[in-house]
Order: sequence, then structure tokens, then C-alpha cells
Amino acid sequence: KQTIDDVKLRGKRVIIRADFNVPLDESLQITDDTRIRSTLPTINRVVDEGAKVILCSHLGRPKGAFDPKYSLAPVAKRLSRLLGKDVIFAPDCIGPAVEKLVAKMNPGDVMLLENLRFHPGEEQNDDAFAKALAALGDVFVNDAFGAAHRAHASTVGITKFIKASAAGALLKKEIEYLEGAVANPVRPFVAILGGAKVSGKIGVIENLGKRVDKVIIGGGMAFTFLKAKGLEIGNSLVEKDMLDFARGIEEHALSRGVKFYLPVDCVVAASREPGAETKIVPVQEIPKGWYGLDIGPASVKLFSEALQDAKTILWNGPMGMFEIDAFARGTLSVAHAVGNAYALTIVGGGETAMAVHRAGESDSISFISTGGGAALELLEGKQLPGLVALPDRAV
Ligand code: 3PG
Repeated sequence: KQTIDDVKLRGKRVIIRADFNVPLDESLQITDDTRIRSTLPTINRVVDEGAKVILCSHLGRPKGAFDPKYSLAPVAKRLSRLLGKDVIFAPDCIGPAVEKLVAKMNPGDVMLLENLRFHPGEEQNDDAFAKALAALGDVFVNDAFGAAHRAHASTVGITKFIKASAAGALLKKEIEYLEGAVANPVRPFVAILGGAKVSGKIGVIENLGKRVDKVIIGGGMAFTFLKAKGLEIGNSLVEKDMLDFARGIEEHALSRGVKFYLPVDCVVAASREPGAETKIVPVQEIPKGWYGLDIGPASVKLFSEALQDAKTILWNGPMGMFEIDAFARGTLSVAHAVGNAYALTIVGGGETAMAVHRAGESDSISFISTGGGAALELLEGKQLPGLVALPDRAV
């Protein structure tokens, strides 16, 4: 694909689609600005070229009309602090008032447009809306990896109405790691998959299952796999309609020589509430009525040993209900094991990134994706509309 390195930026008005969909607390303070920081290389690059930077993004899921809860104003403020320069905040993302503001911009100025999803045309990928957005710039740079799985006006439609389009530095890096490393992994290649439900990960399990040397399964979904092997799992999460799938996947993996690891022990609790009575039991001895909510220490040891010879590790999904301290240890221990591995380590998905951050291992991981749904779709082997819409590089 054509990237930011292939297009002329000097003096141009450059529209950068970013994914500034960051978490906010009740008083609208940003609680994690990773997505903003991750876009800085692209923004600085365009500023350094003496271009005018016009940033746009969605935030949350407003209903196609202005809603102060979803304003990008807090992002403009944080961005200004991170860039060390003023950021002009436009009160809308299209229309005459915005066009006037753009006309007054000087080379090197940075502007952030208000939430794209305040207009229904964004999610409808409406031509008129895409055209109005495109009219603000000369070049379109898509750096919104987290939104690349959405076929919206600002990720797809706009490319039809603007002279040049290209991928930004973050989008490029995400694809290199998540697609490149998975397509041509240095082996042994180990996938660690967790999260609550098997049903949400079917595509990922199937696609990665074909490519890895080892699969490690943890998190809520491990109990469906354990149940499929005939174990009693008490009140732990189980998806009955996934039992056959789980059985099939394990058999298929084993028949192809792929090593398959499931927890051997777990932390069980009398209820799912913080402060509930807990104990550690082998997976064969989960008491009736109890909930399995984390992997246990023997599983952490087993999984860590399985990572010892890995050259590529991909991790998606927590090992337990890590938002509650009593059930966080398995996930945090796996984060340490991945952080300490002598391997190319890739972490995909919002919750897993959060766990790595909490474990203090962010700096020890080769690459942490900024995508949630987009990362999953890429790992499922799907094409991302936002990427497909970008032109191929001229040879
Ligand atoms: C995300 O957070 O995964 C992206 O920003 C996409 O958001 P959406 O699921 O509301 O389209």
C-alpha cells in the first residue's frame, strides 16, 4: 500500500484519520492516552514537512448528533500538551465554519475536528459527507488502525474524493506486526489466547491454529475446552454450543503436531464478587457451585515453560477476570513471562494491552496493538476495509 513516505506533503493540507477513541472517566478525563501517543510520529512527520495537519476521529458511539459526552475537546487538550504546541479545535468536522478555519491555517498548524460520528453520514459511509470531509484537504492519511475494520466515510469513502491517500506510520507498523509476523513467523511460534468466550475468538483460533507451533488457552474460554474433555467445571463459564468446536480444534491441532496447552489448575471462588472466598484447585477438582475465575500457579508454570523456546509470541485475551485483584495473578504472571521472553512479542487487543500495562511490562513487549476489533479481524485473516481502500504503491 501507498504510505506517508510515498506522497508529497510539503505545503499541503493533510487530513489525518486517527483513532482517538480513548477511554474517558465520568468527569471526561482521559484515562489512557496510548492511542493519542501512538499517532504522534505521523503527526510530527506531517508537521515537519511544513504541511497543515487536519486531524479527525470518532469517539465512542454517539447517535449521529452532537452530544457533549462524546466531544473530542479533551483529546485536543491532551494532544496539545503531547505535541508541545497549540491545537486548533474545530467545533464540527464539515461545513463552512470549519472550511473558514482551515483557510486561515499556516504551514505546521495542527487542527482537530470534532467527533465524526456527530454526523450520521460517517457510519453510513455517505458520499456527500465523505466529499465534504475530503474538501478540507489535499492529501488523506489513514493512521486509524483501530477503526480500519469499519467501512465508514472517514476510512473508506473519503479516498474516492481526495487527490492522494496513504497509510500513516502507525497503520503501517500495525500491519507489519500483526499481519507480517503471523504470515511469516520466526519459529517456534506460540499463540496465547484468552478472554471470556470461545464464540468471540472462533476466527482467531482457526486462523492462528493453522500457523502456530503451540497454542495456549486460558481465560474464561478455557473452561469450555475443559468441559469438552469431560471435566466437571462447577459454575464456571461454559458455552454449550461451542463444545464440539473446542473438541474439534484440539483434535485438529494435535493431529497436525501443534502442541495444545490448557490450564491444569485454577483459582475458584464461591461467587464472582470481590472479597469472595477463593481457593486454588486442580482443574479435575473444581467444586460444585464454584466459579473458575483465573488460572492457577501450576498453569502459569506450564505456560511459562511452553514459552521458553518461542521465537514469536502472540498474545490476545486475559487469563482470568483480571479486573478484580483476586483473579488477576494469572494474567499478570503471563504478562511477565511474555515480557521476559527472548522472542518477538506481539500483544493484540484492548484488554490484553491494559493487562500488560498493569503488569509494568509495556516496555518489554515488541509491539502492542492499538486495535481492539480491528486487531481481532486482522488475526482472523480478514481484509480491513480501511486498508483495502488505500491505493497500492506505484512501482
Ligand atoms: C475501537 O475502540 O475498537 C475502535 O475505535 C472502533 O470503535 P467502534 O467499535 O465504536 O467502531
